[in-house]
Amino acid sequence: MDHPWETLPAWCYNNRNFFQTERDRIFLRTWQLAGHVSELNEPGDYIRFDLLDQTVIVMRGQDGEIRAFHNICRHRAYRLLDGHSGHCDRLVRCLYHGWSYDFSGKLIGVPNESTFENFDRAEFGLKPVEMDMFLGLIFIRFLPGGPSLAEELAPLREPLGHYRIEQMKPFGPHSVTPIEADWKVAVENNSEAYHVPIGHPGLQRIYGASYSLEILGNGTSRGGGQLQEPTAKSTWSERHYMKLLPEVDHLPEERRRAWLYYSTFPNLAFDIYPDQIDFFQIIPVAPGKCYARARAYALEDNRREMRVARWLNLRINMQVGKEDVGLVEGTQAGLASLGYGTGHLSRKEARIKLFQDEVRRRIPAALLREPPDAFTASPVAETV
Ligand code: FES
Ligand SMILES: [Fe+2]
Repeated sequence: MDHPWETLPAWCYNNRNFFQTERDRIFLRTWQLAGHVSELNEPGDYIRFDLLDQTVIVMRGQDGEIRAFHNICRHRAYRLLDGHSGHCDRLVRCLYHGWSYDFSGKLIGVPNESTFENFDRAEFGLKPVEMDMFLGLIFIRFLPGGPSLAEELAPLREPLGHYRIEQMKPFGPHSVTPIEADWKVAVENNSEAYHVPIGHPGLQRIYGASYSLEILGNGTSRGGGQLQEPTAKSTWSERHYMKLLPEVDHLPEERRRAWLYYSTFPNLAFDIYPDQIDFFQIIPVAPGKCYARARAYALEDNRREMRVARWLNLRINMQVGKEDVGLVEGTQAGLASLGYGTGHLSRKEARIKLFQDEVRRRIPAALLREPPDAFTASPVAETV
């Protein structure tokens, strides 16, 4: 790496060994958002969160406590629960041989238990996973160690605290969008607005001129701007959104007409609007492949103009989302070209630099323009 604003080299975006290292040093060791507390109302309600080869369930117990467990049976590892979310009656039963667990993870039923020698049920409860909450959002971490969730997200507590996220309810479905690009390309695209004037003419009309960014600490940052007056080029949705968006009294003045984007390392962002919020989480699948997981949440508000503004917001941002998938997939395709090695970032892309510096800190091989030997060896070829 010759210059502090040089991008990650292209080889890091499509290399099997690098991807495996990201799993080990980034994804298993960082807090990952699993869902929101409003998705677990009753004992037995659960949400499932999968990341690469790991699967976790977060469940509300009979005692009201929320706990997270590896979503696998302790007998022979069959996956216990399917779907993104659901409800279990009375117990969690494995559909292979019928072992059953209570909602606190205790093993309570083993068919033909007397056929197991030297067997102690107490040793075979569901394996817990580290879990913590932040403003009603539930996070898990696969491997312990590193900062607590409260420390990690401390810079977001004040700015996000205004929105009453704990009291929100899901608004719209849980969405999953497959993307033919490496997870880092998707995260990076989501971290800068340098592309907005060209890539998103609609967003440019909405707040483009007022965009600013801020690095907040612990790998968190903010971008965003204030809603502008409609122009002659504004679409019907943009014009009506700006006109109808009602006052949200509990927000400070400067946030009542602000569209803001907060990011945390490695793969989570929050889109924060006066009328609703959503999370946007990029889940790696393979080198050069990922998907975006997103869900919107909102407070109860039956004002007609609020209902319409929320719908218009979804409509405007659905268009932005489509534009972004095209940009991200086009970038991934370009990263494979022999004509590209590294690029150079603008100060307008400072949030990408923050992200890439953290990737380089965790995986120093990313400082090298060519993959080192350890990353070029093909694990498949070696074993043949
Ligand atoms: S793997 Fe679950 S009961 Fe056998
Ligand atoms: Fe974009």
